Amino acid sequence: MSTLPIALVGMMGSGKSTIAKKISYKLNVPFQDLDDLITSEIGCSIQVFFQKYGERTFRQIEARLFQQISKQTDSPLILATGGGVIIDEENRKYLKRNWWSVYLQTSPYILVKRLKKEVDSRPLLNENIHDTLEQKIHDILETRHPLYLEVASFIVDTSSLSVEEVCSSIVAEY
Ligand code: S3P
Repeated sequence: MSTLPIALVGMMGSGKSTIAKKISYKLNVPFQDLDDLITSEIGCSIQVFFQKYGERTFRQIEARLFQQISKQTDSPLILATGGGVIIDEENRKYLKRNWWSVYLQTSPYILVKRLKKEVDSRPLLNENIHDTLEQKIHDILETRHPLYLEVASFIVDTSSLSVEEVCSSIVAEY
């Protein structure tokens, strides 16, 4: 068993929050969601914040809060990160050094299916109105996939597994 706390990384729609909650229950370890921490800090939805202040400011807050938690993690914890946390190089260093990071790898086809209904509340999916959802997800995944791989201590392909199977494989490997 690893002595490090668990961070779940992966695209929006990969199931990070759902799986983090279930693992937290299975291992009897507390759970936190980075997006929830950001939302309490900014006092509005992430969508509204992006519109008002832009992605750059959002990433600064995300990095500050993520690095703060990373420095405090001397007790067990399961963290569901935001899909873009791996963009920042410093965040990636923390993910490699301070966390047992699990990449929830999900096929573009499944992501499109899951995110179709959520486009309005997802800032990166409702910009560039000329691109299709498929194209947007493809482009984001192309940039991020190598970064998720870079930080991952363990990779689970969630596309063909049930939530229960994903959780069991993470717990078994931890
Ligand atoms: C983002 C993913 C979201 C949230 C924000 C940006 C991204 O989190 O942090 O909308 O850049 O992929 P989830 O991955 O939890 O949906």
